[in-house]
Amino acid sequence: MPRTPLHRARVRLALSLAAALAGPAYAADLPAGDPVRGQSLYQACTSCHSVDENDIGPKHRGVLGRRAGSIPDYNYSAALKASGLTWDAATLDRWLTNPQALVPGTKMFFQLPDAQKRADLIAYLGQLK
Ligand code: HEC
Repeated sequence: MPRTPLHRARVRLALSLAAALAGPAYAADLPAGDPVRGQSLYQACTSCHSVDENDIGPKHRGVLGRRAGSIPDYNYSAALKASGLTWDAATLDRWLTNPQALVPGTKMFFQLPDAQKRADLIAYLGQLK
């Protein structure tokens, strides 16, 4: 089939529908993440976090799709608990870029300026069901 402008518009529509159906975990404007690279990048988080135990920061299993500040036995800042955020690819990307900018008053002070690394980490976190 020739690639007419109508066809291209349909493809774009199909792609944005697919992105919408895939849900907020796949924000269209973020780079694709590699969970294997994300797992090794997670080392940078383990001074404060682990997958299954609360530490300086809350445990991470199941974080994608969870409301921010909702692990019952972790002592969150009031700011994060009141943030009203749900963790998806877009909110996690902003969080890891600069938690203080997203949630003023949070007690996480750690920034990851590299967009690809953030995407890799988010892909890894998304696999922790
Ligand atoms: C220096 C310590 C520290 C490091 C390093 C750190 N964090 Fe955190 N993180 C925290 C603290 C403390 C909180 C709780 C923030 C609050 O209650 O305001 C937190 C909260 C979070 C939350 C919110 C979880 C929830 O249940 O709402 C996510 C997601 C998160 N961190 C991801 C990461 C990732 C991914 C990394 C590594 C790239 C990382 N953090 C590195 C200290 C850290």
